[in-house]
Amino acid sequence: MGYKKSILVTGGAGFIGSNFIRHYLEQRKGSRIVNLDKLTYAGDLANLDGLEQNPNYTFIKGDICDLNLVNSIFNEFEISAVIHFAAESHVDNSIENADDFIKTNIEGTYSLLKNAQDYWLSKKAGQSGKTDFRFHHVSTDEVYGSLEEHGYFTEKTPYAPNSPYSASKASSDFLVRSFHHTYGMNTVVSNCSNNYGPNQHFEKLIPTIIRKALSGDNIPIYGDGKNIRDWLYVEDHCRALNLVFEQGTAGETYLVGGDNEKDNLTIATTICGLLDKTIPKKSGSYTDQITFVTDRPGHDFRYAVDFSKIKNELGWNPKESFDSGLHKTIAHYSNKFLRKA
Ligand SMILES: NC(=O)c1ccc[n+]([C@@H]2O[C@H](COP(=O)([O-])OP(=O)(O)OC[C@H]3O[C@@H](n4cnc5c(N)ncnc54)[C@H](O)[C@@H]3O)[C@@H](O)[C@H]2O)c1
Repeated sequence: MGYKKSILVTGGAGFIGSNFIRHYLEQRKGSRIVNLDKLTYAGDLANLDGLEQNPNYTFIKGDICDLNLVNSIFNEFEISAVIHFAAESHVDNSIENADDFIKTNIEGTYSLLKNAQDYWLSKKAGQSGKTDFRFHHVSTDEVYGSLEEHGYFTEKTPYAPNSPYSASKASSDFLVRSFHHTYGMNTVVSNCSNNYGPNQHFEKLIPTIIRKALSGDNIPIYGDGKNIRDWLYVEDHCRALNLVFEQGTAGETYLVGGDNEKDNLTIATTICGLLDKTIPKKSGSYTDQITFVTDRPGHDFRYAVDFSKIKNELGWNPKESFDSGLHKTIAHYSNKFLRKA
């Protein structure tokens, strides 16, 4: 298909957005990306180092909730597609205070949809606005709630979000759905499992384990460490996003997963074991630092994704093995941590 003009990427200074921008510009030479990011504590322009020189890349610091700003970006850059990553993304923060989650994840998504609707469906394009332009909303498998030991989420699983974060993402998914069903906007939604890889904020599980291990601190693990997540290397997610964005059917949702379920304690012991080999301590093992802490309130037990739809319809499969992905990830954060130390 190819949405070739200017693509507005939101939240491109964050973890997945920054990996995606590099991936997309590499894969789709000649495409132009405008990155709108507020640079909250989670955004870091260092994640995009070197791209300032690229004539197909423009960075704008700003808030997706700012309707006037988003409107001016649509008009100035003649935006023909949106890939929407910007969000408050850390569940623990949403439990502390959900204000920013409601604002950015719900109101921010609405601000983007409203501008896209004005620009594509009314003013500019008439009927072709329903086919030529695309709004891709990047979301999470957490909207489906928690699984017991067996079973998988599919695109037909009813939504049952449990945290303020997942509830805000679920709300934004529904807003996107409504703009397709009500106005005929060309939308797609992808819901992915836990990502890991370079550029993730140090607050998240895998970077936290590496940072705490190397700084000699306790490595905190919630509850008994038995909560299970499905882990996908971020580059594999970027390939899936590229496919869904370019080839996904309008109005559809695609689940993306790694077929790689691990409980949190296994993640921590595996990382500690690898660090023992690559950066050994003077004595003992990093696993000695693992400490169980009071569980997160309402902690979902298990997420697991049946991704046969994207596999069968778009030919996507995860490629990176957990072993090699984790080696790359540990190398990235160890270097970053040791450079700062
Ligand atoms: N990380 C995961 O494992 C995962 C899995 C599935 C889906 N997702 C979804 O993918 C998207 C990206 O996640 P991430 O892990 O890269 O997040 P992140 O927290 O690393 O990055 C979010 C980015 O959005 C920016 N931002 C926040 N509020 C903004 C606002 N009001 N206006 C403009 N920019 C703003 C931040 O500055 C940051 O650069 C999110 O929508 C998240 O829900 C993440």
